[in-house]
Amino acid sequence: MQVIIFDDAQHVATHAAEWVAELLNKNPKPVLGLATGSTPISLYQQLVNKHQAGQLSFKNTTSFNLDEYLGIDASNAQSYRHFMNENLFDHVDIDISKTFLPTCAQGENPRTQGLKYEQQIKQAGGVDLQILGIGANGHIGFNEPTSSLASRTRIKTLTQQTLNDNSRLFDKNEFQPTLAMTMGIATILDARYVLLMATGESKAKAVKDMVAGPLSAICPASALQMHENAIVLLDKAAASQLEEQEYYQWAHDQNIMINQEFGLYHNY
Ligand code: GLP
Repeated sequence: MQVIIFDDAQHVATHAAEWVAELLNKNPKPVLGLATGSTPISLYQQLVNKHQAGQLSFKNTTSFNLDEYLGIDASNAQSYRHFMNENLFDHVDIDISKTFLPTCAQGENPRTQGLKYEQQIKQAGGVDLQILGIGANGHIGFNEPTSSLASRTRIKTLTQQTLNDNSRLFDKNEFQPTLAMTMGIATILDARYVLLMATGESKAKAVKDMVAGPLSAICPASALQMHENAIVLLDKAAASQLEEQEYYQWAHDQNIMINQEFGLYHNY
C-alpha cells in the first residue's frame, strides 16, 4: 500500500486526476472504476477541465461504478447515475452506453443483476483503475463492516451510520434508500490499480484502521492491504491518526523519481 499525504483536498484531487489522465492517454481501451460521494467531486471537476482544455478524451473509455441505490431510478436526482451524469459524463466525450452502474430495477432479481455486472466487467477486460472513497466506518463502495472479503456484486443493507452520514444529502421528507447494489470486496480487489481518496478529519479513524489496522471485515477497506497496487491519497486531516507519516513522505519522494523515469503504471 502506497500512502501519499498532501496539504489539502485539492492536491489529492490533482494527483488522482494525473493517474486517470495517464491511464486514458496510455491505454487504448481503458476501463475505469468510478465512485460517488463528495470526495471525488473535485477529481471529476479536474477531469472535465482537462477534457475541455483538449488534454483528455474519454472516447474509448468504459466505466463501471461501484454502487447504486435500490428503489430509485436513474431519473431521480439522488441516484448515482444522476450524480455521474451531472459531475462527469455530461461534460466529457464518453460513450454513455459504455458507462455501467450496478442497477436493480423493481421486479429484477438482485442476484441475477449482481452476476450480470460481474460478467460485464469481465467482458470489458477487467477494471484498470478503480477510484475509491471511504466511509467513516471503513466501508468501500457499500461494503459495510463485516462484509465478506470474498464478496462479489450484490445487494447490501446499509448500516445506520452510513444512513446517518448520507442523510445530509437528502431532504427531510425525501425517500432515503436503505438498500443498495455494490461491487463486492473481491470485485474491487480484481482491479489492476486502486486509488483511494480520503479527506477530512471524519475519515481519520477509518484511514488508520485501513492502513495500519489488522486485515479485518470490520474495516472493509483494510482488504486493500492485500492488493498489489493500492494507492491511498490523503489530506493532512485524514492522515492525522497515522504514525508512519515521515516514512510515507520519504517513500513518496523516492517514487517521484522512479515515476519520472518509468511512469505511474507498469502493466497494461
Ligand atoms: C458513500 C459511497 C462510497 C463513498 C462513501 C464516502 O456512501 N457508497 O462509495 O466512498 O460513502 O462518501 P463521501 O466521499 O461523501 O464522504
